[in-house]
Amino acid sequence: MTHSPALPKKAIILFDSRTPGGSTEQLIDSVGKKLAEKGIEVEKAKCKSSGNYSFVEEFDLVVMGAPIYYLLVSSELLGALLQSNLKQAMSGKKVALFLTCGSPELMANLLYLPQLKLNLAGSTVIAEKIFAPDQLADQAVIGSYVDDLLAAFANG
Ligand SMILES: Cc1cc2nc3c(=O)[nH]c(=O)nc-3n(C[C@H](O)[C@H](O)[C@H](O)COP(=O)(O)O)c2cc1C
Repeated sequence: MTHSPALPKKAIILFDSRTPGGSTEQLIDSVGKKLAEKGIEVEKAKCKSSGNYSFVEEFDLVVMGAPIYYLLVSSELLGALLQSNLKQAMSGKKVALFLTCGSPELMANLLYLPQLKLNLAGSTVIAEKIFAPDQLADQAVIGSYVDDLLAAFANG
């Protein structure tokens, strides 16, 4: 497949979930597949708050997200942003955020997204999306998220 220079070459999907093979993992597998169909090399990594994230430096796009449990972004992703070198490794990078949760979008935008964004001051957030339970396997919604984030990546 030919590779457009406006597209990222390598994308990493950083996520956390307490549910192996659950809705978040299914969502990121769909996102990863759609990115790969564009010729982008995609890897995924489940976050640990104690992890070493220097490997993130080799990627030009970071897709990051997790479920909400009890009003908080899943703890290992939040912990990685607060305690590890993840924030530094992502500095200057373009980041697309997503959350999976059961709350209405307005509440998620007000209460949950800032938990990620407040820790990403050195990065450029190019897309953000709250996935409601009925959207988690909706290929049209996922495809539109991927198209939007790639358009935003290409535009700056
Ligand atoms: C124990 C538990 C607590 C949850 N707490 C919240 C919450 O506070 N706010 C919310 O919007 N959704 C909440 N949810 C819904 C999850 O965020 C949502 O179902 C998500 O898709 C689960 O992802 P997973 O399948 O990867 O675990 C909760 C789900 C569980 C199982």
